[in-house]
Amino acid sequence: MPLRAIVYVSQARAELSLAELDGLMADATAFNRMAGVTGVLMFDGACFLQYLEGPADGLDSVYARVVNARRHHGLRQLASARVQARWFPRWTMASRQIDAQALAAIVDAPWEGLSLEPALAGHGFERLLYTWMGGGGELEPAAVSLGS
Ligand SMILES: Cc1cc2nc3c(=O)[nH]c(=O)nc-3n(C[C@H](O)[C@H](O)[C@H](O)COP(=O)(O)O)c2cc1C
Repeated sequence: MPLRAIVYVSQARAELSLAELDGLMADATAFNRMAGVTGVLMFDGACFLQYLEGPADGLDSVYARVVNARRHHGLRQLASARVQARWFPRWTMASRQIDAQALAAIVDAPWEGLSLEPALAGHGFERLLYTWMGGGGELEPAAVSLGS
């Protein structure tokens, strides 16, 4: 089945607690597992940056939940495209806290597609992958809980 992926950025509701975030992740992970969706969520304390991938029907149902969630607002889609294979096959949703500068560097980069072609060096998706990998160069590091 063809796979699609979406990346968006949004702003967290001001009073969002880390405990709430942990609850959200548990809920999101359970739903994603049923929908066949995988991906990663980065949070800088104010903004979310999320990458979601999966079959079109599953992705649509997850994205509808994301769009309707009241815990964030100002959602802006950065990319939506077909992908040849999953970039995060093992993560029903992994999350990580990153610093605001790193998140802004990803968001402010030019966005075009969701592949790692040399022609797209410096583009948003390449930055997203490298930021997620950190210095270790590993594409799928152990999931880190945001709150605990
Ligand atoms: C930043 C963010 C990321 C989310 N990611 C997912 C997800 O990956 N899968 C999913 O099914 N729901 C996701 N959701 C939706 C939540 O699991 C939950 O359904 C939603 O937050 C409903 O509660 P709320 O309206 O109080 O925010 C996300 C919500 C937010 C705010």
